[in-house]
Amino acid sequence: MSGTPHVLIKRQDIQAAVDRVAGEIRRDYEGKNPLLIGVLKGSFIFMADLVRRIAMPLEISFVRLSSYGSGTESSGKIKVLTRFSEAVKDRHVIIVEDIIDTGLTTSYLVDYLSKKRPASVRLCSLTDKPARHKIPIKIDYLGFTVPDKFIVGYGIDWDEKYRYLPDICYIE
Ligand code: IMP
Ligand code: MG
Repeated sequence: MSGTPHVLIKRQDIQAAVDRVAGEIRRDYEGKNPLLIGVLKGSFIFMADLVRRIAMPLEISFVRLSSYGSGTESSGKIKVLTRFSEAVKDRHVIIVEDIIDTGLTTSYLVDYLSKKRPASVRLCSLTDKPARHKIPIKIDYLGFTVPDKFIVGYGIDWDEKYRYLPDICYIE
């Protein structure tokens, strides 16, 4: 990869998708005070925009996971680095992801949270790369399906670079 970013999804289209997803969540969770758990770091901008569009009582938390693999490949060996302190038991949990690639990270997190006996667990992701899934994964709220390219921007990085880009870009 040379690292030059090219726009894939413009900021206006991102905002339209965030509005749509927020509307779906508001409709499904009205009166339920859901707990949104963002997966750091890539989800931080999406989370910030999403909660303001959902605009109803909810709580947020973040979790940091590590996947020990080489370069851009997920190894599937995942660890929870930063635990969230909020109680999950009996809560309606929504995991907020930046991108579902192989699906291994998310499936680990769903299992990890399910053991804490929440009232429900659903998955919300800004983007999904179905061509790369290694296991079946159900995304309840999705922004965009993206092609099998390396994505950056709107919070998502390449080696910690490009998170600040306002559009979702791909690098080649
Ligand atoms: P998975 O376990 O393979 O689904 O890995 C998901 C994680 O890998 C994402 O949450 C990202 O942190 C990272 N990742 C996967 N694909 C990309 C990409 O195209 N751009 C940036 N990060 C990515
Ligand atoms: Mg991530």
